[in-house]
Amino acid sequence: MRLSLVAMKKRPASSASRPVALAERIERAPVLDRPVRALSDAVVRALPPGTRTDALHGVPFGQPAHPALVRMPLGCWTSAVLLDLFRGSERASGTLVAAGLAAALPSAATGLADWSALHRHQQRVGLVHAISQAGATTLFGASLLARATGRSGNGKVLSAGGLALATVGAYLGGHLALRLGAGASHAEPIDHLAGLGWHDLCPLSELPDGELTRRQLGYLSLLTLRSGDTVYVLSDHCAHLGGPLHQGRVVTVRDATCVTCPWHGSTFRVGDGAVMHGPATARQPAFESQVTESGWVQVRPRGKAKREAAA
Ligand code: FES
Repeated sequence: MRLSLVAMKKRPASSASRPVALAERIERAPVLDRPVRALSDAVVRALPPGTRTDALHGVPFGQPAHPALVRMPLGCWTSAVLLDLFRGSERASGTLVAAGLAAALPSAATGLADWSALHRHQQRVGLVHAISQAGATTLFGASLLARATGRSGNGKVLSAGGLALATVGAYLGGHLALRLGAGASHAEPIDHLAGLGWHDLCPLSELPDGELTRRQLGYLSLLTLRSGDTVYVLSDHCAHLGGPLHQGRVVTVRDATCVTCPWHGSTFRVGDGAVMHGPATARQPAFESQVTESGWVQVRPRGKAKREAAA
């Protein structure tokens, strides 16, 4: 009785943790570093900073494009396999397989662009995710060929194999996004840490003109850029992956003063945190500032009072 209780306790824990343990082993697998480096270099060469790369990251949409696009191939292929299983129309299954293949290309392009601007352990998981999805795409391509040449039985088996591999890839994609924070906005907690109203930051005289500096406000690290009596203030942790913006560069983009993150080059307008270049897609939290008569810089979260009043 005692033995069986021990066995009952152990079984669910080990089976539940197996996929995560595997994903975590991939994170720590330096054997993947050589292909990661080679592919990453190739992607960076093929996608220099600019409007096209920003579009692949999803900058014009305000969030990464990849998660929205991957639904198309996965949805089509899952539907095709279900039609195969329940004796649906062969023509419909073939059409769904072909539609999924057509949608796989933009999904892969957006995924590669995002992947090229990740940390190494994230890139290792991303590489295995990409290999799984490339394998699934190959199997669905072979399935389409088999169906087109009258070997529909083979086509169905190949589709089922492709869906199984795509599911493994999707699990790793979920691990990458939800456990390792790739693609999520790292700026989201800032609004909850910043209190309403004006807060003393530091004397204006402490801030060198035209230089990026970091100041602490409670739990918040803030980036400041002084221009005469005006002080621009943003959260210092980059919305992309938390890079230290105060170690970045001041640049001018479309006549606006901006800061470029030192880690992957995201560029934010200092006046309001708007994204001028990716890979970040979420606005950098910005603060309003004022200088008191005694020469102290005070800050408050930009727009927070309005947001709370509207909630
Ligand atoms: S952390 Fe990646 S661009 Fe800032």
